Amino acid sequence: MFFKSHRFIGSFPEVKQCPQEGVPEFAFAGRSNVGKSSLLNYLANVRGLARISQTPGKTQLINYFMIDEAWHLVDLPGYGYAKVPKTIRSGFQKMITDYIAQSESLKCLFLLIDARVPPQEADLEFTNKLGQLGIPFVLVFTKADKYPSTRFKKNIEDFKKEMLKSWDPLPQIFITSAEKKIGRDALVEFIQDVMKGE
Ligand code: GTP
Ligand code: MG
Repeated sequence: MFFKSHRFIGSFPEVKQCPQEGVPEFAFAGRSNVGKSSLLNYLANVRGLARISQTPGKTQLINYFMIDEAWHLVDLPGYGYAKVPKTIRSGFQKMITDYIAQSESLKCLFLLIDARVPPQEADLEFTNKLGQLGIPFVLVFTKADKYPSTRFKKNIEDFKKEMLKSWDPLPQIFITSAEKKIGRDALVEFIQDVMKGE
């Protein structure tokens, strides 16, 4: 299933400048370089809609995309990457925190987790923040190019185990690779269900 239309709306440094027409939003959050912008392009099926880079810290603002003239995809800057200079990181952190705390149209946040690495403290902390704020979210494992290899499965199981220490039930889980084009259908179906209010 493909979307009929897509367009870039704009990049905004502050939540109060973001579109406020009450259009339902789905946002992509996660550590710098986890593959947020790549997954957004894969989901929208448009190469180059959001800018991607090998260097962490590429997405520096809150980027809005209109899909089917009906809902927004929001690409956020990343958190937690040690190689991103500290001042820039804290600016990103403020944008992300303000966005999740203030966005009234956010239907669901996609929290992207790198399937290639063991559970990361920064991600677990972020899930706790989402919990405290009561933000609806799902986990989207990225870069699972060779799923179901043992290493990916173990990382995902370990992440679930860590989350179970403070969460029950766990949020819904998706496994994706923008590179190998894995997992798009399930995400599209999920968005459609949320939009239908199921
Ligand atoms: P920031 O905007 O810097 O926070 O990064 P981001 O999370 O938006 O990541 P981005 O989409 O820019 O991708 C970062 C790097 O990961 C790029 O070099 C991508 O090509 C690579 N990448 C993205 N998705 C995949 C994937 O599914 N598999 C693999 N192997 N690499 C990927
Ligand atoms: Mg990005």
